[in-house]
Amino acid sequence: MASLIGLTKPFLEAVYKKENGDPLKWRYKCAFKILHVLGLNDNEIKRMFGVLHAFAISNLRPWEKVRGLAREFIRAQETLVEMEKIQVAMDYIQRRIGKRKPEIVLTLGSGLGGLADQIEDAVIIPYDEIPCFPRVHDHVKGHKGNLVVGTLEGKTVAAMQGRFHLFQGVTAMEAVRPLRTLAVLGATQFFVTNAAGAIKPEKFKVGDLMLISDSYNMTGQNPLVGPNLSLGTRFPAMSKAFSPGLHMEIKLLAAKELRIDLQEGTYVQVLGPNYEWDMEVEDMKRRGIIDAVGMSTAIEVLAAIHAGMQVIGVTLITNVAAGLSDVTPEHGEVEDVAIKNAPRFQSLMRLLVCRAHELKSGIISMA
Ligand code: HPA
Repeated sequence: MASLIGLTKPFLEAVYKKENGDPLKWRYKCAFKILHVLGLNDNEIKRMFGVLHAFAISNLRPWEKVRGLAREFIRAQETLVEMEKIQVAMDYIQRRIGKRKPEIVLTLGSGLGGLADQIEDAVIIPYDEIPCFPRVHDHVKGHKGNLVVGTLEGKTVAAMQGRFHLFQGVTAMEAVRPLRTLAVLGATQFFVTNAAGAIKPEKFKVGDLMLISDSYNMTGQNPLVGPNLSLGTRFPAMSKAFSPGLHMEIKLLAAKELRIDLQEGTYVQVLGPNYEWDMEVEDMKRRGIIDAVGMSTAIEVLAAIHAGMQVIGVTLITNVAAGLSDVTPEHGEVEDVAIKNAPRFQSLMRLLVCRAHELKSGIISMA
């Protein structure tokens, strides 16, 4: 409803001049009251009246008025400031999920979305239905593009079955809007996952699961650029973003409960959509500090830390980075490896969700 915003001052003035002492005044009052009850604020209502009035008094033909109105409302969404867009998306999700209050956001990367199918009592909302979520025309294969809210391991989770990537043409701020929306809805933990190429194939094999120890944003973009949102501080610190103090316990739990030999390593986000040039991989190798490369995650973690969320990151190594083996990376291979390793990946993520409260408190029982 707030998408009805976006009207200019002259329109409003016209409405209010006409309304003064006008017999129509009581109608405005009634409409005001009803729209208030529906959740619109004064400004939104005034702007909406303005646009309706402008079209009502115009000489346009009826269908031209309808067309013009539709365009106005679409344009209105574009003029919302970021926090309003988050609010609009949040209101919509809140209405769809009812009393559910997601505590944990799970972002599921390429081929890893199957975990969302295990969520019980689920409300599935396609991203395209959520106002103010980015609109992309080419959904990445293996990314369903659904928000799935429900219960997993007794916790209320919001799983993003697929994400928005910078290479799809969205801005960094747009790409993290879904995550920020869920943070505003009350989620305080962010378990982020991705598929990535190994920069050190001697250390990381295809199929390895890797806890992300640290990250490097090589995209040249940052979702925190622009007016600082009230979600967090202007200058957030990114050191220890992935909760490294908990990694020893998580690795022990994975080994003990799931017999998974969980690796640990660093992840760099590049812009994509191409797989890396040989020289880029060579450079990453030479730096010595990079273990895996992918096209997501770092910008999301920036937004999560800014919003005060706890972050844990898991990478599935799906390929050896370009130029380091005879095999040329391709998305089909990434998906196949992800699907093949889905059971291990899913059991690890379920373990993290199951222990989410302990992870949050920092005290993990090994018994
Ligand atoms: N490079 C970048 N992104 C990726 C890769 C890769 O090798 N594998 C999966 N996502």
